[in-house]
Amino acid sequence: MSNLDPTADFLPINGTDFVEFYVGNAKQVAHYYQTAFGFQPLAYRGLETGDKEKASYALRQGKITFVFTTALVPDSPVAEHVRVHGDGVKFVALWVDDARHSFHETTLRGGKPYMEPAEMRDAQGEVVMSGIHTYGETVHLFVERRNYNGIFLPGFMAWEPEYRPEPVGLKYVDHMVGNVGWGEMNTWVDFYANVMGFNQLISFDDKDISTEYTALMSKVMSNGNGRIKFPINEPAEGRKKSQIEEYIDFYRGAGVQHVAMATDNIIHTVSELKRRGVEFLYVPSTYYDTVLDRVGEIDEDLAPLKELGILIDRDDEGYLLQLFTKPVEDRPTVFYEIIQRKGAKSFGKGNFQALFESIEREQERRGTL
Ligand code: FE2
Repeated sequence: MSNLDPTADFLPINGTDFVEFYVGNAKQVAHYYQTAFGFQPLAYRGLETGDKEKASYALRQGKITFVFTTALVPDSPVAEHVRVHGDGVKFVALWVDDARHSFHETTLRGGKPYMEPAEMRDAQGEVVMSGIHTYGETVHLFVERRNYNGIFLPGFMAWEPEYRPEPVGLKYVDHMVGNVGWGEMNTWVDFYANVMGFNQLISFDDKDISTEYTALMSKVMSNGNGRIKFPINEPAEGRKKSQIEEYIDFYRGAGVQHVAMATDNIIHTVSELKRRGVEFLYVPSTYYDTVLDRVGEIDEDLAPLKELGILIDRDDEGYLLQLFTKPVEDRPTVFYEIIQRKGAKSFGKGNFQALFESIEREQERRGTL
């Protein structure tokens, strides 16, 4: 591929490889994601594998791989990250065919190196990994696994506990949203465009998304083949503190706000998540009085959607069903979106008004509005 061809994708990405969280107690977090979200045990690294400084649990559901890492010693970058940010996303790892090329092309364009290309080997082969910094203390890793047949990564062993709650039907990462500080959205939009070769999909400003109190601005960046979508939010001026500002205050800077996970049966997935104790944002039942006037005909019966509080939105290409959890940590930071796409390629802008009002009710209870 020639660097001189402006239409060439200089950073081909196959998909999301894994998302790694730095957390206070990885053993208990892993149990929560098994029990509540139906992730399946995959691999483990820690004292038993010779790592004396950290422990990691890798779990998988569909194509979604989450890694939860905790520090075993106080003077550790993992411990420091958790001290500042609380539990949160450290690595958004992208699956590439050539991690050296990915590092070279992105750092050439101004990407700040986090990790020079490094080979990791075990009996199952070789993984090449490199990484660059993105917003806040978040890092994009490039993972090349062409010559690897192991279960996850060198350094990990199979993790095979007897306890295995059923999956809930989560299939893949649909998009991952970053919250950045006041006036920083365009800096990071430019970063994804210039350093990573992404394109902007759609945008809306604070006039589109605001309530009496809070507002945000957002732009969506997508890679060449559309498999990676990163909306970037920044707070906008409102009468009271916005949810983005609340996140930035508690996370102590920019970071991943939510991971949207796709299902092809949202009624089943959300029913199961609720049964297992996952808490979702509450949408008033009046939402359903007018929603079909707005989105038109849909395949599903409205009754179960209303009962579960699932939201509906439509764009030119179809519709989507979505629902948001409450933050899954004590700090009001990272949460999840469950999404089922029925043709729509957008992100549910039509639901933002109802969602913001719901989030404000939660902020009111936290005293952070
Ligand atoms: Fe989303």
